[in-house]
Amino acid sequence: MNIKWDFTGRNYVVTGSTRGIGFEIAMQLMAAGAAVGITGRDSGRLAEIEEDCRDKGYKCFTAGADLTRASDLTTLADSFINRMGCIDGLVNNAGINILEPADGLSLEAVEKVIKTNLTAPMILTSLFTAGMKKQGGGSVVNVASLSSKTAFMNHSAYCASKEGLLGYTKVAAMELGSHNIRVNSVGPTVVLTELGKRDWNADPEKRKHMEGFIPLNRFVEPEEVASAVLFLLSDEAAMISGEFMLIDGGYMAGKGI
Ligand SMILES: NC(=O)c1ccc[n+]([C@@H]2O[C@H](COP(=O)([O-])OP(=O)(O)OC[C@H]3O[C@@H](n4cnc5c(N)ncnc54)[C@H](OP(=O)(O)O)[C@@H]3O)[C@@H](O)[C@H]2O)c1
Repeated sequence: MNIKWDFTGRNYVVTGSTRGIGFEIAMQLMAAGAAVGITGRDSGRLAEIEEDCRDKGYKCFTAGADLTRASDLTTLADSFINRMGCIDGLVNNAGINILEPADGLSLEAVEKVIKTNLTAPMILTSLFTAGMKKQGGGSVVNVASLSSKTAFMNHSAYCASKEGLLGYTKVAAMELGSHNIRVNSVGPTVVLTELGKRDWNADPEKRKHMEGFIPLNRFVEPEEVASAVLFLLSDEAAMISGEFMLIDGGYMAGKGI
């Protein structure tokens, strides 16, 4: 990373930060001086991250939560706010995908995807922005997807959740703007995290086919998603709100032609 961000004195919460994109966002924020609340379900991984951050001198707070459970959402927000004070920014990053055909959907899978990818970001934003209002501002970034804008086979629940997240981003940006709270979202194409590998790396033909649609001819790295998120969280993006930033190597540029 060539840009030297300075988030000293700021507090952030990044959901789904035990691994993948969220972990990279959290590490970049802490490297730039921020205190970061790290969360996920994997308690072993949370302990490991806490120890590693202590060695690095990073300001890290951890809390376990299953975002599909309503009670965990309030407990999580209380736990970070009580220990960290007011939160300056929230990154709603945690997300899952369960591939199913549109004519063979299971209620359990659809509910799990919608709760994790859409309900949790909405409720957590509501919980964390209460404090942001009192302190005079803040920033929320929702990690949406290229799937917010285009369809993929067997992605019914995932595409619905990610397109829903864009609609929600715009409403929240409109309602919270008068409190100096900005709400944006980012839309990466495939990132070869655990989630990305499961969906796009198992079948070499499927991977090649997808990469072929990307003008820059490769998938995105977690660091590249984190850079965009840090920009949107930063004061450099002070007048950007309600926006959706694609990180797709040009994938959508040719759509519709
Ligand atoms: N990878 C891609 O190709 C891609 C492309 C576009 C958008 N995205 C989006 O980017 C975000 C991050 O994805 P990723 O690729 O980094 O995925 P990942 O490597 O599978 O990581 C997902 C993270 O979410 C957490 N998580 C999942 N379900 C949870 C739950 N019920 N409660 C609490 N935490 C939960 C996981 O933590 P625990 O396991 O510890 O619970 C983990 O930290 C997601 O919103 C995804 O939709 C990914």
